[in-house]
Amino acid sequence: MSHLSLGLAGLGVVGAKTAELLMSQADIWQQKTGKKLTLTAVSARDRTKDRGIDLTGVDFEEDPVALAHRGDIDVVIELIGGSEGPARALVEAALASGKHVVTANKALIAHHGQELAKLAEQHGVQLFFEAAVAGGIPALKVLREGLAANHISRVTGILNGTCNYILTEMTQTGRDFGDVLAEAQAKGFAEADPSFDVDGVDAAHKLAILAALAYGEQIDFSSVNISGIRSITGTDIAYAGELGYVIKLLGIAERSGIRSVQPCLIAHNDQLAKIDGALNAVAFEAEPVQTVLTTGPGAGAGPTSSAVLADVLDIATGRGGLPFGRFVDTLGPSAHVPHDPEERRYYLRAMVPDRAGILSAITSILKDKDISVESMLQRGQSEDAPVALVMTLHPARADAVLAACDVLTASDFINGSVLALPILDRIERH
Ligand SMILES: NC(=O)c1ccc[n+]([C@@H]2O[C@H](COP(=O)([O-])OP(=O)(O)OC[C@H]3O[C@@H](n4cnc5c(N)ncnc54)[C@H](OP(=O)(O)O)[C@@H]3O)[C@@H](O)[C@H]2O)c1
Repeated sequence: MSHLSLGLAGLGVVGAKTAELLMSQADIWQQKTGKKLTLTAVSARDRTKDRGIDLTGVDFEEDPVALAHRGDIDVVIELIGGSEGPARALVEAALASGKHVVTANKALIAHHGQELAKLAEQHGVQLFFEAAVAGGIPALKVLREGLAANHISRVTGILNGTCNYILTEMTQTGRDFGDVLAEAQAKGFAEADPSFDVDGVDAAHKLAILAALAYGEQIDFSSVNISGIRSITGTDIAYAGELGYVIKLLGIAERSGIRSVQPCLIAHNDQLAKIDGALNAVAFEAEPVQTVLTTGPGAGAGPTSSAVLADVLDIATGRGGLPFGRFVDTLGPSAHVPHDPEERRYYLRAMVPDRAGILSAITSILKDKDISVESMLQRGQSEDAPVALVMTLHPARADAVLAACDVLTASDFINGSVLALPILDRIERH
């Protein structure tokens, strides 16, 4: 019976669960791989912390990079996090030392995935990161394996469970962003510092990885246009609902088009509109298969360790292949465009004083940019406080809409920033 020795760095939410499953289900891993999988050594910051797992007989390394230099470890599992620092140092050292690497670290892969994949190729080892995108959904395996023979034209994803949870709660309860975020933090669904999630950065890391795999291109995190959900109010959710839409934070990567993470209006009967709470989903539009929709839990100890272990089992059995589905030198440049070239309908919301002349001032600014108003909604009157003026716009280009928003936001008759969200009527079907 052959043997595979594992070193695990990071014993937090994902690492502790991964260690527990590795040790408690050793028999099953042996049946599935024909190999005895042994957790040989671990590393974390605090050696004394009770993690609810029995690590008797497992070595502890104060410095995670030491795992890369041990001669008795075949596979390094990196579950520390962060695009730099110890996670990057460990993964680089492990690959350079000829060890296979499994990581859940989207920030690391989004920023350095290509160099790391090259290092893996040079040293004849495997680098897998299934857990880095959409947690428990095997989205990368779908792209790399199941859809390997397809020409992908668009990937659309609900890629951040925290944002989806917040938007779902806002939709179902009518509460505002700040209120729901505070509750999500209290329940442990959102981090104390939620910026990476609510500002769209986490989803953008995942989208950059998906685009690289889908289109065989170099990872280019900087090509993703990112806007988060902080500016979405209960009023926006309510008006969108009245118009027949729900608001979702969507990551969209088109083959020769945009790479964006932004809140969008999608029809309430669209399949993605029904992905609620902390669930994630990724829809692939592809030829010849057509649309494939995958959904499931995108984070949490169980779902994420499920994906980490699947990668470990692939390494143990010699399945898998290249991290980006092809050799690194054959990855082309990213074919993204800076602004969405497609004309789309838009939802526009401005906070305006309730007085005459405002509407014509707004429509005249829009007209200057060749944008015409399709419909308008305004409810409530107040002499003191501004009220929401909501419009839907006839199809227009993103750059024109953004330019109009800048002029409107700078005008003295509008309070705060004007919000413009694309309305995606044909989300999954091209
Ligand atoms: N949580 C999720 O649902 C989820 C989902 C998908 C992907 N991921 C990814 O999985 C990775 C781990 O996330 P997590 O939520 O498990 O993080 P976490 O709970 O914060 O755990 C991080 C672990 O790394 C250890 N660590 C930090 N700095 C270290 C250092 N210098 N040396 C050694 N160990 C160090 C910490 O040690 P101490 O415990 O001693 O402090 C802790 O055990 C991240 O890349 C994350 O993006 C997480």
